[in-house]
Amino acid sequence: MAKAVQIFSKLTAAQVGRVIETAIERNSTLAAAEYGLSPETARRWVRHYKNGRVLECPDGSRVEPLNNAESSTAKDPATEPASFSIPELPDEELSAADLKARKIQDYKRRKEAYLARMWREIKVKISGPWGLACFGDFHLDDNGCDWEQLDHDLRLVGGRNDVAGAHMGDATNNWIGRLSRLWKEQETTQSQAIILLEDVIKSYGIHWAVWLLGNHDIWTSEMGYILDYQLRGKVKPENWQAKVKFVFPNGRESMAWFRHSFPGFSQYNPNHALGKAATRFGLVDLVIAGHEHDASEERRHNRFFNRVQQLVRVKGYKDIDPYADDQLGFPPLFEGHAALVVFDPDSTKALSFIRAFDDLEEGLDYLTFKRKARGY
Ligand SMILES: [Fe+2]
Ligand SMILES: [Fe+2]
Repeated sequence: MAKAVQIFSKLTAAQVGRVIETAIERNSTLAAAEYGLSPETARRWVRHYKNGRVLECPDGSRVEPLNNAESSTAKDPATEPASFSIPELPDEELSAADLKARKIQDYKRRKEAYLARMWREIKVKISGPWGLACFGDFHLDDNGCDWEQLDHDLRLVGGRNDVAGAHMGDATNNWIGRLSRLWKEQETTQSQAIILLEDVIKSYGIHWAVWLLGNHDIWTSEMGYILDYQLRGKVKPENWQAKVKFVFPNGRESMAWFRHSFPGFSQYNPNHALGKAATRFGLVDLVIAGHEHDASEERRHNRFFNRVQQLVRVKGYKDIDPYADDQLGFPPLFEGHAALVVFDPDSTKALSFIRAFDDLEEGLDYLTFKRKARGY
């Protein structure tokens, strides 16, 4: 007598037999689908069936194994009657079918989230000329951070409803790995850096429209969580880049591509990577980056799309950088920490629709003048 295997499915022996038959003759996925089983269950029943096991159903009916007749005469000790039956235990893991269904659902959600971020619409609610203050890398805990300048620039923008803020990433140093040795040289501890960061976000009254996470921010997931928490209710920090479509009250739109850094480098042209991006996507009005701790501003007239494309690289506030100066040969720059990009949605010319200033004060003077001239 063959050994018995108890099965937990509520199917009758006739139905189990049909599953086994279909699985052998066609395939296990098809066989299992008819009764809502996992293909692995069908495959397991086939194994038992071929290995000379009787399948006992809960209603007491039995499916005789393939070689039952032969095994009953062979006197093989392995197929001799046993005084017990082994229960078929349910699987701990999800079946392949369940895993595939979950993967399909997960990917749909991820794709939806990705597409929602592609040229997300930021609706500007104030009419007339409007400014976007783009702050370069703060590195606000670095010994070389010009905090007087940073405080000055944050105050300039804070409280204005005709200007929004954008931060280009690398808010703090957040040293890790072999760079952890630099904590020994840094006067500001990590907990002090987080206090300063919270102060920048909460005390100056800046309406942040964009906040990027740079390489220093994403070196540890903890810093991402901290920024996410500190910026909650204001803006969702974005990993490395944000593609934005500003929509102005008169219906005019402007596409802006913010990246901590764009791929590509030329020692003779600081805008090489930005120009490449602007050429590839001719509909973009603003291409802006941080990361290199270098400042530049350039306007390109794109005749194919009838627009002026503004390329900007903001330097950030880490003015004194012994590594860049001593090892790489880049002396410090003491200006160009942030830029003001002014949009004039009422303009009929491509030339004056967008204009960037690599000095915040100059830009704010221009914005004030333009708003007054337009009667706002
Ligand atoms: Fe960076
Ligand atoms: Fe940086």
